Amino acid sequence: MFEKLTEQPKDKILALMQMYRDDPRPTKIDLGVGVYKNADGVTPIMRSVKTAEQKWWQKEDSKSYVAIAGDAGFNDVMVDLVLGDAVPRDSVASVATPGGTGAVRQAFELIRMADPKATVWISDPTWPNHVSILKYLGISMQTYRYFDSESGAVNFEGMKEDLDEASPGDVILLHGCCHNPTGANLTQPQWNEIIRIMQEKGLGAMIDLAYQGFGDGLDDDALATRLVAASLPETLIAASCSKNFGIYRERTGILIAVSQDASLRAMTQGTLGFLNRQNYSFPPDHGARLVTLVLKDDALRTDWQAELEEVRNGMLGLRSQLAAELQRYTNSDRFGFIAEHRGMFSRLGLTQEQVEKLRSDHAIYMVSDSRINIAGLNTDTVPILAKSIVDVLD
Ligand SMILES: Cc1ncc(COP(=O)(O)O)c(C=O)c1O
Repeated sequence: MFEKLTEQPKDKILALMQMYRDDPRPTKIDLGVGVYKNADGVTPIMRSVKTAEQKWWQKEDSKSYVAIAGDAGFNDVMVDLVLGDAVPRDSVASVATPGGTGAVRQAFELIRMADPKATVWISDPTWPNHVSILKYLGISMQTYRYFDSESGAVNFEGMKEDLDEASPGDVILLHGCCHNPTGANLTQPQWNEIIRIMQEKGLGAMIDLAYQGFGDGLDDDALATRLVAASLPETLIAASCSKNFGIYRERTGILIAVSQDASLRAMTQGTLGFLNRQNYSFPPDHGARLVTLVLKDDALRTDWQAELEEVRNGMLGLRSQLAAELQRYTNSDRFGFIAEHRGMFSRLGLTQEQVEKLRSDHAIYMVSDSRINIAGLNTDTVPILAKSIVDVLD
């Protein structure tokens, strides 16, 4: 049987990580992989998470299964974190999932179960895994224009024109904040306009929220998600705890389904549980426990928020520094968008050749579409990157 298998497409970012590891140059800089790193290049365990882990180690008295939807306490705190008081709780169904990816996958499966003909609309560009999971599941997809490489801003007119082509019942996948890979985000008035289009055209909403707290703050980053959930008949939200709690390998996420029609809640909850059971049965619990402990304990929560703020402000500082250095070198505002972007990523708008030159001549690694991980920088490497970018420009 195995001889019938065919080669699957390689994940570009994993291949880039390998090239970086194999590069012997001591000055190499990794701006490729999508994990947060501090100024020393370390992905730290957050203080509050470490403390929660110690507490849980003492408290945990069984490794038996929990519940098919995950621990109810986790679901509650996460629904609160994501939705605040935007929607009544009797309109919300949710399941814990292995990371944000698990939630994305389950959301797509739910869409396919509910309406096999629905098309999912994704931004061009988007997180590549959206594309590959949709393809793998055989779900029809379309792209809407999103990014203007010249200005580094959202191509809002293009986005609206394309969404106008969507049919009733289609689902629009939006990044709740900190768009990956571009870093360009809709403004509040633009979100309002998109919501109006979706209402008028009878479109479904799916929000991928993988970076809450990495952009403008915990509540600000959830504003658009809350607005969508409160305004549209149905919203699916795939949220990840990997980044904002720094628990990447614990695989912690949640899929939230909001319906204005509370009578649909039981059916939706049952379907989400069914999907968990079919795909991996009980979701992972360890990371979910840590998140619950942190969010339920005032002192731990305060410390977590403070550390998350440090992370967020650190990235904002690096953005301003890089934009200023590039302004100085180019004597233009060409790269001013870097300071406007939010989250861990910015797409620089460089050509593939320029990206390759940065790698070959300067040992600077970024994804071939010129997405950089801001957190891969520190105050010492920002000027090196700026100078190198200028070097590869025409
Ligand atoms: C847009 C987006 N969605 C979802 C995820 C899923 O993250 P994880 O499965 O690690 O929680 C990521 C991670 O890179 C992401 O960038």
